Amino acid sequence: MALRDIVKDGNPVLRKKSREVEVFDEKLGKLLDDMHETMIAADGCGLAAPQVGLLKRVAVVEVDGDYFEFVNPVIISQSGSQQGPEGCLSVPGRSEEVIRPYKITVIFQDRKGNKLKGTFEDFLARACCHEFDHLDGILYYDKAVKK
Ligand code: CO
Repeated sequence: MALRDIVKDGNPVLRKKSREVEVFDEKLGKLLDDMHETMIAADGCGLAAPQVGLLKRVAVVEVDGDYFEFVNPVIISQSGSQQGPEGCLSVPGRSEEVIRPYKITVIFQDRKGNKLKGTFEDFLARACCHEFDHLDGILYYDKAVKK
């Protein structure tokens, strides 16, 4: 495993739409391992591939010791809402209030290409929504609650 450099706000890669992953090879596994290690080293709870400069629909999320790897995630349903503070490893030193769904159901693939489905609530749902937005070039402050 290796640490990757985290791209900072202002770099155009953060504003582009990522491409679907079609090849599930060792390189994808290494990317996921590196992203997880990089996220932990930066004390974050999620990281998306554009944040390490790659326009691939790949994200990792870890909340309270529960670790998830998402390849080609799609939110198929959502319910409720929650408002709370968010920050981003690509936007250091800032935090804004964002409204997110309380509960989401996601279809995604794992590093081997297996198709999975999961339901996430509360902060885990917030973290997923934040990371999946990165895959469409959206940063959390685009959705910040106006003060
Ligand atoms: Co972020």
